[in-house]
Amino acid sequence: MQVIYPGSFDPVTNGHLDIIDRCAKKFDKVIVAILNNSSKKYMFTVDERIALLEKVLEKYDNVEVDSFSGLLVEYTRQKNCSLIVRGLRAVSDYEYEMQMAHVNNKLAGDIETIFMVSREKYSFLSSSIVKEVAMFGGDISCFVPKTVEVALKEKINGGLK
Ligand code: PNS
Repeated sequence: MQVIYPGSFDPVTNGHLDIIDRCAKKFDKVIVAILNNSSKKYMFTVDERIALLEKVLEKYDNVEVDSFSGLLVEYTRQKNCSLIVRGLRAVSDYEYEMQMAHVNNKLAGDIETIFMVSREKYSFLSSSIVKEVAMFGGDISCFVPKTVEVALKEKINGGLK
């Protein structure tokens, strides 16, 4: 069975990577689907986010990195898939995740959302927090892989020039 793991991944964190790793062990194939939403502001372009994810996931032969725009359920159907995985970090994620899962289920009753509970050590981690710490010069080496750390620093320093 294959699953879609969708998100903004701006940028990918160790928390995302842990979910992908655990999914790769439980499912035949994981499609990491990066949202390309032109009306949202991202730090990294979709091509940069694809490149970062491909680099940090290169050791997996059952993980594909892709991007999508528009409705997630439509993309999921296009990929001949019927299972969406989302990570749940804390109670605070619950409301938004429930809302998305219910909307997606209303739009496409055959598509299920399943939740994977984040490991406790990643339960505080988010792309936004990582970006904020990096912007203020904090150490992000334990939050993201080296490739992402370097890319974030380059982005921030580039912006300051
Ligand atoms: O990493 P994120 O930003 O929490 O991921 C959110 C994402 C990409 C899963 C969600 O915004 C999404 O699915 N967007 C696509 C548009 C869509 O299908 N909307 C209806 C469901 S709420």
